[in-house]
Amino acid sequence: MACAQLVGDVQEGASLATALPQSAARGKWDAAQRGAAQALSFAVLRHLGTARAALSALHPKAIHPPLLRDVLHTALVLLRPDTGVHYAAHTVVNQAVEACKRTPALRHAGGFVNAVLRRFIASPDLLDTVCAASNEARWNHPPWWVETLQAAYPQRWQDVLQVAQRQPAMTLRVNTRRISRADYQLELSACGLHSMAPKDALLDQALILQQPAAVERLPGFDVGWVSVQDAAAQYAATLLDVQPGQRVLDACAAPGGKTAHLLERADCTVLALDKDAQRLHRVDDTLRRLGLQANTLAADAAHPAAWWDGQRFDRILLDAPCSASGISRRHPDIRWLRRATDIPALAATQTALLDALWPLLQTGGKLLYATCSVFPQEGAQQAAAFLARHADAIASPAPGQLLPQEPQHSGDGNAAASPASHSQDGFYYALFTKSS
Ligand SMILES: C[S@@+](CC[C@H](N)C(=O)[O-])C[C@H]1O[C@@H](n2cnc3c(N)ncnc32)[C@H](O)[C@@H]1O
Repeated sequence: MACAQLVGDVQEGASLATALPQSAARGKWDAAQRGAAQALSFAVLRHLGTARAALSALHPKAIHPPLLRDVLHTALVLLRPDTGVHYAAHTVVNQAVEACKRTPALRHAGGFVNAVLRRFIASPDLLDTVCAASNEARWNHPPWWVETLQAAYPQRWQDVLQVAQRQPAMTLRVNTRRISRADYQLELSACGLHSMAPKDALLDQALILQQPAAVERLPGFDVGWVSVQDAAAQYAATLLDVQPGQRVLDACAAPGGKTAHLLERADCTVLALDKDAQRLHRVDDTLRRLGLQANTLAADAAHPAAWWDGQRFDRILLDAPCSASGISRRHPDIRWLRRATDIPALAATQTALLDALWPLLQTGGKLLYATCSVFPQEGAQQAAAFLARHADAIASPAPGQLLPQEPQHSGDGNAAASPASHSQDGFYYALFTKSS
């Protein structure tokens, strides 16, 4: 029932990042209960498109109260054999009926739930039928999202959507000020945690764990040997190529993963800015754990007149607010929360941030624009428009669009069209050098 409630919260527009801690506090969950609720709700959200379509086929009328709909969506995902959270059919039906009996608002709904789920079990072709009829059911993302990817990546859109259905690998960033990557890998092995180093030279601090582990199990985590950060996010600090003594602006810094990475790589002076004062506290916490220092400031990067001291920066990192469409596998609620109309609004914010920050850059300096998005409006189109607006901006080598990838085989047994060397999120990177 806890999972159904969380899925319902997302269907009503709340993010899991908000709903999960609230439910955990209300229910006084311990870490294991919270982990279980998160894992289950992630699985249901990854398959919600199919569950919605199946439920509409089984019972075309609206279902009230909404919690009853959420119980059925959850049970339908648990009944599917290919979701990673599959249980025996009789267990799922019994538990759904019992959960209704224990919930005052659903006390009389047990018979209905039992009937709907049994009809589903008796219809082995139903999933194929609903998936053939709708993109949302087949790909478990809203139709506009699927269509945007189809237009942007005619050859790769299916891979992108398939990766979003899998649990991401856990990637570490070794703080090489404290310990070398090779030595840390040995420390991990000694604790029974096996890892691999990606072959990409730009990912020289990354280790990808064979199996995810709680941070408490990571040797030296408390004393700053290591951080958790996806491989795609680790390109930022390497690409920006910060040198000792440089003045660096991290314009959208919280929670501070990239701020810390910049400071691990060079003795530079970083101003870490974020509009959200609460999130900015997390930057301070992260830096303290890693033994690093930056000046943190709660301010709006789009309005430098309010906070800039007039001294230009040698490097600027703009890790801009975005749709987060590149990390759909990590946050499976995002796909159901975003609206198509959010994308132009986010792109307008990114444009405003780029234009506000460009004058703050030194001649010869570099600005790295990053988003964890796979939508071209927030990536390649944004970068091309920026170059067209600023004659003094030169495009420097950068990866451009990184699509999310996993090296394993997909859930349906098919290998991805282009086998990936390592796991990473979707990200966009453009690097601009100032010519005059
Ligand atoms: C993608 S996150 C940054 C992640 C961070 N760079 C990291 O690696 O941990 C985007 C951040 O931009 C902040 N933000 C959004 N609009 C902003 C603005 N106008 N000025 C400063 N920060 C802003 C948000 O509060 C959010 O923390």
